[in-house]
Amino acid sequence: LTPAIFGRVYEAFLDHQLLLFRGQRLDEPSQVAFGRWFGELQIHVMNQYHSNQCPELYRLSNLDENGNPNGKHPDKGTLAWHTDGSWKPVTGQATILYAEVVPPPGNGGETHFCDMYRAMESLTQTHGDLTHLKAIHNLDFSRQRRHGEQPLTEEQKKQIPPVTHPVVRVHPETGKHALYLGDHAETIEGFPYDEGRALVETLNAQAIDESRVYQHIWRPGDLMVWDNRCVQHRATPFDTQTQRRVIRRCTVLGERPRGPND
Ligand code: SIN
Repeated sequence: LTPAIFGRVYEAFLDHQLLLFRGQRLDEPSQVAFGRWFGELQIHVMNQYHSNQCPELYRLSNLDENGNPNGKHPDKGTLAWHTDGSWKPVTGQATILYAEVVPPPGNGGETHFCDMYRAMESLTQTHGDLTHLKAIHNLDFSRQRRHGEQPLTEEQKKQIPPVTHPVVRVHPETGKHALYLGDHAETIEGFPYDEGRALVETLNAQAIDESRVYQHIWRPGDLMVWDNRCVQHRATPFDTQTQRRVIRRCTVLGERPRGPND
């Protein structure tokens, strides 16, 4: 990469929200180096997922020490639609996924992406102005709910108290409005808990529509980059007893989300 080429990559990233580079051969330090072109990298609070070589990488692998499928999904939370890092005051800007090993096409383990600019337009038509709403995002809530057990230690929980973000996020670079919710959003600030929870569920469900979803079928060596400020994503299930899947994630930190009234 040169600054000029990266400038074009970044322009495409803002214009298209999601980029795919096929046939890459990236070792872990090279993925981290690519991420650093975008900005400062997240070191995820759940350090049980860190790669040994690079703590900036979160490894999603269902392989045991002999390279055989271990029958366990590495992170069931990724199977629900979400945006990376919304549980911190400074949230994820870009996420960079690299496929080391993936199931053959037709065997699941895909990643799906949904356009939150268009979701925002659609939800404004259905619900009217949502710009006054702020949601409470909470990793402890989403992880316990999806894993069916507590994957966070007490020490990790202390590092990630719930945080409030606008439901309508103004993209700091394009100026466009995007719905900013997803699976880490628990409830709405100032609402009775159950009412806020129900509204989050309704908006999350209505945000996802086939017409604005891209379904990615992975090939080994695929490198995907997307803008978490205006895209939600989820992984799809696969047979963890028979299929192998190893994906490395690198999340770039961005800024504190801003709403239209901030
Ligand atoms: C993620 O949600 O960060 C990972 C998605 C995937 O494993 O496809």
